[in-house]
Amino acid sequence: MLRKTFLGSFLSRKQQEDVISLCIGEPFFDTPQHIKERGIQAINKNKTKYTSANGSLATRQAIQSFLSQEYHAFYDLDSIMVSPGAKPLITAALAVLTGDWRYVFIPAPYYPPFYNISVLQSKSLLSCPMLVDTREDDFQITGEAIKRVIGNLYDEESVDSSVLILNSPNNPTGVVYTRKNLESVAKVVKEYDMWVILDESYLDFTYNNDYCFFADLSDMAERTVVIRSFSKTYAMTGWRMGYVLGPPKVVNNINAYMNNCIGCASSISQEAAIAALQSSVMADDVRESFLINRNILLEWLTDNSIPFVEPQGAFYVFPDLSEYCFSGGFKDATEIVGYCLEKARVAITPGLDFGDMYKNFVRISYSVSTDKLKQALVRLEELIN
Ligand SMILES: Cc1ncc(COP(=O)(O)O)c(C=O)c1O
Repeated sequence: MLRKTFLGSFLSRKQQEDVISLCIGEPFFDTPQHIKERGIQAINKNKTKYTSANGSLATRQAIQSFLSQEYHAFYDLDSIMVSPGAKPLITAALAVLTGDWRYVFIPAPYYPPFYNISVLQSKSLLSCPMLVDTREDDFQITGEAIKRVIGNLYDEESVDSSVLILNSPNNPTGVVYTRKNLESVAKVVKEYDMWVILDESYLDFTYNNDYCFFADLSDMAERTVVIRSFSKTYAMTGWRMGYVLGPPKVVNNINAYMNNCIGCASSISQEAAIAALQSSVMADDVRESFLINRNILLEWLTDNSIPFVEPQGAFYVFPDLSEYCFSGGFKDATEIVGYCLEKARVAITPGLDFGDMYKNFVRISYSVSTDKLKQALVRLEELIN
């Protein structure tokens, strides 16, 4: 809302039409045809009624066989629950796991709902968000960083049964957490008997082959709630489809919460999701085009001496513009964002959106066509030089 006003205040309507947005948080391609067809069929076959709150049996079975075929991961049906996107699951999981007062540890920079929902819940004294700054560790989360935050707390005992939110591949940094770091996190999780909410919405967009599944680490499955989404992988953001995997008791409580506030995911979207799971042909092509864009963008940042941590997943990079703020006389990167919009008609997201301490950073999304990305970089280049 704020940014719309911002955009409007600088640019005429004609100029606004010319803006290239590198703020986009969704894939730049359309939902594949076979998925759309299945949705249309569902309507024509009158599959348009409520399903059970945790999802239709057919959808949960399709998720179950997809996980066993693709990942050799075996989940009972009562460990799987379908939902209208990943986002409501963040609220539901936090509500369920923080029934009594709890700390919620959130690596920063963070996807805004992690922090905002925790802050909302803290108002009814259900939880207290604690940020774990990851800047020193190249945006990786480590057990040591969490311990440092715990060490500053007044009463270490009250940390027991806290919640830790993880997001890998990460929005906004594109970082994929390494096995070594996740093992160190798992140790702390065990020591303090914590719960983990793991958001894997970008799981299908990783650019190296060593993704570590946190829930597979020793003793972690029983204390981890995994959230996944159809939004990014299948370009289904508007269909609202996601699912959660976790210990049946927790999934059951999330189901009770969602049943009361949401009912169920759209029956039509659930049918479309079955088609998506049964033919995952597109992920490789899409990953390839994201990789091309990522490399173009990283080369451009390097050529312009802008520091960044190399993203291994998702479709974002989170560069540090401190030097540009200083040399250009900008108060912070938010001012640079305004300048780029006004002078180059290129929109990027200020780092402030992802944590107060990131006011000198920006998030650049490369989920645009390669042509558009190149065009945006030419415009920015003209601005810099
Ligand atoms: C980390 C993360 N989790 C969840 C979501 C939302 O996913 P969904 O569309 O499934 O609600 C997003 C969307 O940008 C995201 O970046």
